[in-house]
Amino acid sequence: MDFTWTAEEIRRVGYRVADLVAEHLSNLPDEPVFRPLPPDRLARAQSSALPERGQPVDTLLDEFAREIAPYPFGNGHPRFYGWVNSPPAVVGVFGAALAAAMNPSVAGGNHGAVALEHEVVGWFRRLLGFPEGSAGLLVSGTSTAALISLAAARHRACGHVGWDVRASGLQGRGDSPRLTVYLGSEAHGCHQKAVELLGLGSASIRHVPGDERLRLRADALDTMLAEDLADGRLPVAVVASAGSVNTGAIDPLDALADVCARHDVWLHVDGAYGGPAVMLEELRPELAPMARADSVALDPHKWLYVPVDAGLVLVKDAAGLRDAFSLVPPYLRTDGDEHGVQGPPWFSEFGTEQTRPFRALKVWLALRYFGLEGYRELLAHDMALARRLAAGVRQAPALVLWEPQGLSIVCFRAAPPALGDDGEALDRLNRAVLSRVQLGGEAFLSSTVMGGRFWLRACVVNPRATESDVDRLLAVVQAAVAAELTPGA
Ligand SMILES: Cc1ncc(COP(=O)(O)O)c(C=O)c1O
Repeated sequence: MDFTWTAEEIRRVGYRVADLVAEHLSNLPDEPVFRPLPPDRLARAQSSALPERGQPVDTLLDEFAREIAPYPFGNGHPRFYGWVNSPPAVVGVFGAALAAAMNPSVAGGNHGAVALEHEVVGWFRRLLGFPEGSAGLLVSGTSTAALISLAAARHRACGHVGWDVRASGLQGRGDSPRLTVYLGSEAHGCHQKAVELLGLGSASIRHVPGDERLRLRADALDTMLAEDLADGRLPVAVVASAGSVNTGAIDPLDALADVCARHDVWLHVDGAYGGPAVMLEELRPELAPMARADSVALDPHKWLYVPVDAGLVLVKDAAGLRDAFSLVPPYLRTDGDEHGVQGPPWFSEFGTEQTRPFRALKVWLALRYFGLEGYRELLAHDMALARRLAAGVRQAPALVLWEPQGLSIVCFRAAPPALGDDGEALDRLNRAVLSRVQLGGEAFLSSTVMGGRFWLRACVVNPRATESDVDRLLAVVQAAVAAELTPGA
């Protein structure tokens, strides 16, 4: 059990790991998309004792191959369309390994990993039209990006009324204005979580009405903000979506930016899933106004296929973000040492993490490997497959499509004439269909609830998928509906 391995040993095990990676990714299409763990597996894992004695690495890799690899989450398979989880770009897989080999903390400093994060952040800044001086950092995902953005927004809003929220928190200010955050019905749950974590309480959320396509209504927001300001509330932020998780709907970002500018309220745009589609010419008009936001979140681990975790947050007011987070102990002082050991201002001054992983390498590799051109093709491929699936659903007699179908998400539900408009019975049927499809192992989709009703939901962020794969998904769903409607099935 040596800590320091010889180069030969590293190579031998590394080749074996490379074989495991190759086998896993190549064999996935021939395996079930999903197979549940054996019934006793979790109990065994939970009661397992921490080993007293070390074991040979080959034994451990054998166990990985036997007990772990055969039970994937499902993503990676050409017929996986659940949630927003892509297969990993292979360069990103190796990027993760190389990053671990260097194992820096990217809190800050003057080293290669810091430079790479600045490079990657700069690319996104320019892609999204954010100005040069704005701040950006890679984070675990959009949940963290939302927390960071809303913390900066809270800091700014409180600062406007002379309230040092970092020092006094939210306690003991009985006369303080009611801090308020504005969300649409389709906002991802991570925003409510962030509001709660920031101590604002979910009661401080105002839900802005949506239009018939579930997009946040700018006129309604305008009225709400005017009324709330007149009532003495203190608006913290408006959260808009550049591709909602349910239907891929894009909020009217330009109109919302106008309203926020008029009332001097922070606009945060959740581009976790849809943000990368700004690369596509046909979506630029709708997505380019992300540039007008105060902060944007975008997840390279979603529609840029970078292995989890890789999120990004951009904040226009870099000094404001630093004010909201910076807490530099004396042993980490960085000022005036741009070209020395300390390097540029530390990333850790702009967010929640101190020791930070080298996320930039896998993102950098993927962006360099595909380039904008490659990504445009991959995104267009996913959208074309989603449109094909939607067209198939439209033609299927017992299925109804959620219209309009947005980005690469397709929501639909079984609605056989036999059940008429009995909403409860239809929900039960669709739940049973979902479970039958997921456990069947041939294809995988997830679900959502909209308008109080249960919908099946397929999200195609999967360059491994082909036309015949999405056709098969449709056939599998139709077979599941038929089976559920067959007495005794
Ligand atoms: C639109 C949207 N926003 C936010 C999130 C949360 O992002 P993360 O899971 O990276 O924290 C998701 C995750 O699916 C999402 O689809």
